[in-house]
Amino acid sequence: MNIGASMFGIFDSGLGGLTVVKEVLKRLPNRPIIYFGDTARVPYGNKSEEVIKKYANEGVEFLLSRGAQIIVLACNTMSAIAFETLKKKYDAPIFEVISPAVKKAVQVTKNGRIGVIGTRATVGSGVYEKKLKIENCKLKIYSEPCPLFVPIVEEGWVGQKETEKIVKEYLKPLQKAKIDTLILGCTHYPILKKTIKKVMGRGVKLVDSAEEVAKEVAKFFETSGFSFLGTRRECKIFVSDKTDYLESWVGDWLGGDVKVEKVTLG
Ligand code: DGL
Repeated sequence: MNIGASMFGIFDSGLGGLTVVKEVLKRLPNRPIIYFGDTARVPYGNKSEEVIKKYANEGVEFLLSRGAQIIVLACNTMSAIAFETLKKKYDAPIFEVISPAVKKAVQVTKNGRIGVIGTRATVGSGVYEKKLKIENCKLKIYSEPCPLFVPIVEEGWVGQKETEKIVKEYLKPLQKAKIDTLILGCTHYPILKKTIKKVMGRGVKLVDSAEEVAKEVAKFFETSGFSFLGTRRECKIFVSDKTDYLESWVGDWLGGDVKVEKVTLG
């Protein structure tokens, strides 16, 4: 692979952003992608704003230095805390995952009661509430941080009974709130979609921020005349810490033999 070629740069604190990679590949199968997962420092969601901004900046710098021309912050935490600063700093188009999910949730809800789950940093930032209220001030928003979901996903504990118990515990207040729409406000959470769906029941529609940002990226690509990205399907995965387990997890999730390379930032 020519690492100097023009690519989509997709960035998350860990492996959750691979849910975005998968969705982008579905829509733009022949575009090269470079992914960075900061696996040595995940999770970001319980860190301070200052640290999240610093890490976000380092990840974006890395992707740009490796030829990324469009950056997708495949992470709600960075989108909530660091997006505005990054947008001002860099010329490259940068996508965040929150606005597309907000748009979708507003279209989907019938009773105007929307739940949001995310990391402590995302929920604490209040960004989903703010953006949803701008769309419709009458909406009732119920937010719950679910800090254990990220380590559960990074550990691959997807189908376990214990996982279902934890999901039930976190989602109890949202069940009581009679929401009809639930935003998965963390890119790790689509990996737990089946369990979340089972717990919330059929009456609650799940909005997947990974899916929604991928639609937005594909639309931008088709309409903006941004034509100088490569035209070969290539997917290069970089992480800041690597184990055999991680490599096999990535291969299982993306399908096929995916090469994962460890890099040290800075
Ligand atoms: N996948 C991330 C998000 O969407 C990250 C979580 C974390 O690092 O805590 O928020």
